[in-house]
Amino acid sequence: MTTRTPPGPRGLPFVGNTHQWARDPCDFRERCAEEYGRVVNFEIIGWDAYMLTDLADVKRVLEDTDTFPKHDSSTDELREIVGDGLLTSEGDRWERQREAIRPAFFMSNIKNYADVMVSRTEDTVGRWRDGGTVDLRDEMMRTTLEILVESMFGEDIDLAARGIYDAVEAMQEPMKPQNQPVTFLAPDWAPVPFLRRANRARDHLDAQVYDIIDERRRADTDREDLLAMLLDADAEMGDDQIRDEMLTFLFAGHETSALTLTYVWDLLSRNPEAEARLREEVDAVVDERPTVEDVFEFEYAEAVVREAMRLYPPAHEIRREPAEEVTFGDYAVPEGSMLVLPTWVLHRDDRFWDDPEAFRPSRWLDGESRDRPEYAFFPFGGGPRRCIGQQFAMTEAQLVLATMADEWTIEREYGDLDLSAAVTLQPKGDVPVTTRRRERDDRAPRATPKAERR
Ligand code: HEM
Repeated sequence: MTTRTPPGPRGLPFVGNTHQWARDPCDFRERCAEEYGRVVNFEIIGWDAYMLTDLADVKRVLEDTDTFPKHDSSTDELREIVGDGLLTSEGDRWERQREAIRPAFFMSNIKNYADVMVSRTEDTVGRWRDGGTVDLRDEMMRTTLEILVESMFGEDIDLAARGIYDAVEAMQEPMKPQNQPVTFLAPDWAPVPFLRRANRARDHLDAQVYDIIDERRRADTDREDLLAMLLDADAEMGDDQIRDEMLTFLFAGHETSALTLTYVWDLLSRNPEAEARLREEVDAVVDERPTVEDVFEFEYAEAVVREAMRLYPPAHEIRREPAEEVTFGDYAVPEGSMLVLPTWVLHRDDRFWDDPEAFRPSRWLDGESRDRPEYAFFPFGGGPRRCIGQQFAMTEAQLVLATMADEWTIEREYGDLDLSAAVTLQPKGDVPVTTRRRERDDRAPRATPKAERR
């Protein structure tokens, strides 16, 4: 078969298409997909990139991890922080780790974490004042970090006293949209304050995690948290390996969830009808406080979370690197290039979605969702390297949402969300909101007592 080079936008000497990408990566990818179709070739920051917009190609790439391992750009920086955990390893090592960790994320275990999810959210809203102002993203970051740390290490780890919260925050600073140019361009020796803080924080976090592992190995407990499961895993893991996995969870497992919840509330505050319908469901399903059983009953709450992840997927693209030259149709893609699977673009593609820009949770409840092709929606990736925390994240998002919606509503103090497609999809600036306690009579009566419903 004769092959050809895929088409793409013309770039400039040296920088390629970096300037167009940097201006607005989401818009750039959408325009490329519209104009050039199945495979689009462009050059960003020196990488020869090929974006795939055909769902069968996306499926092939995600499901064949031998031919399409992760691209260095999605693992190199991260490896400096989390070492060789599940997110960054490849081949046999990855397969062994995945097998060992899998049971910790079975639904039967996620049930153990549900109470933590509700309790830590209660702590968050417990600090709110009626009419007060908070930063929504910061609140969600703190909540999901507390949930994750407690699910991993148990309740007696004092986050603040051990400096874990501050350390994680300092380590995330280099990845903030406004800091990324410096992070990627500054040489290692450059005296950049936030990079130095991040390095010190990494050493601190390392020491803390080793300390916690050591204490646990010596203690005789029957705990059921993530650390206990890693210590018990059939494939014996050394302390270094457990440290890498713990740090991986810290980084993979709280920011993405916090961003999802930030977008959920942003969208609800713009769509009062959807918010009212959500509250109706929460009022009807939840008794005293949300439980994991309620999550099985929620329909609309789940649809709201899915719809927010469709419009604002925190992992806005997935990158892979072909281990050999490959073809998609008659387009050739060279070995060692960068394959871009554009989650953002496909989630808003009118080939698969009616009125794609609209926030319409009900699209997940009617026939429309049955006819949707595989991989039109893949916020958690797909194939063997699909997110191991998917069920944890879906349970958490619904429980945090229900706990907040039960008593509180928020009003935006900002205009439109200005987004930055950095490593994850982030709001560029602050996200200030006014917190309002719900009036008692604003709540629908609980339809049927729970005991009678089950
Ligand atoms: C809304 C929340 C979340 C989103 C959108 C999300 C998204 C993703 C995506 C897209 C991938 C695949 C990346 C790739 O193929 O290159 C992934 C992998 C992963 N996620 Fe998540 N994630 C979320 C929550 C979580 C949570 C709560 C945890 C853990 C507690 C977690 C742990 C991981 C790990 C360990 C991997 C690597 C899996 C592997 O390579 O075997 N994630 N996540």
